[in-house]
Amino acid sequence: MKIAIIGSGNVGSALGKGWLNAGHEVVFGVRDPQSPKTQKVLALIPEAKLNTVADASINAVVIVITTPPEAVLDLIPQLGNVSNKVIIDTTNSIRTKPAPYATAYDAIKEISKAQDLVKCFNSTGFENMLNPNYHGEGIDMFAAGNSKKAKQVAGQLAKDIGFATCYDFGGDDKVELLEKFALSWINMAIMQRHGRNLAFKLVRR
Ligand SMILES: NC(=O)c1ccc[n+]([C@@H]2O[C@H](COP(=O)([O-])OP(=O)(O)OC[C@H]3O[C@@H](n4cnc5c(N)ncnc54)[C@H](OP(=O)(O)O)[C@@H]3O)[C@@H](O)[C@H]2O)c1
Repeated sequence: MKIAIIGSGNVGSALGKGWLNAGHEVVFGVRDPQSPKTQKVLALIPEAKLNTVADASINAVVIVITTPPEAVLDLIPQLGNVSNKVIIDTTNSIRTKPAPYATAYDAIKEISKAQDLVKCFNSTGFENMLNPNYHGEGIDMFAAGNSKKAKQVAGQLAKDIGFATCYDFGGDDKVELLEKFALSWINMAIMQRHGRNLAFKLVRR
């Protein structure tokens, strides 16, 4: 699959490394090839392909947003025509948000008119995206949004990098709840000081 990852920081580089290893075609859309975060992706993935946001997006089937949430206001016009593309929004509007929108998801949906948009890869730390394996088992991922197609694509991409299951977390009305779920991980890992090597897994009986 042709994937454009917008942003090359913690999340972008972790997902990019996994998808490249899984055989996907990945291009990073960056604003400054010399920035420390661009250099970080090159340290992790020496063969990483870098381009402008517009050129990375133009041939992509899937566009993955891994920037601060407020950056989407800048980015949306650079993504071009997204009517046939799946957009995966990994952002969490916890410290900042793309005002007047509550989330980047809402901003993308309204401004770009994207049909196949999904919130995913936001609910755990980037270390867990680099390595979702705990004691021989994959942890779980969660996806929210109204597009079945986007959820199916995100779910496959989650499995491709080692997540066990990507659960359907609900529709557009559950996007903010999925960001709160991410905040729950941040609370446990950082505020309650349990450390970032922890993850959520759904168990059943
Ligand atoms: N860190 C985590 O564990 C984690 C987990 C789940 C979700 N998230 C969410 O994922 C997003 C990214 O987090 P991160 O930790 O990967 O951040 P990060 O390491 O700071 O990387 C952010 C990336 O966004 C780029 N960027 C910023 N503004 C931009 C703009 N206007 N146009 C194009 N690119 C822009 C930065 O590029 P420059 O180098 O040019 O600044 C950088 O490559 C955030 O929304 C966060 O809430 C983070």
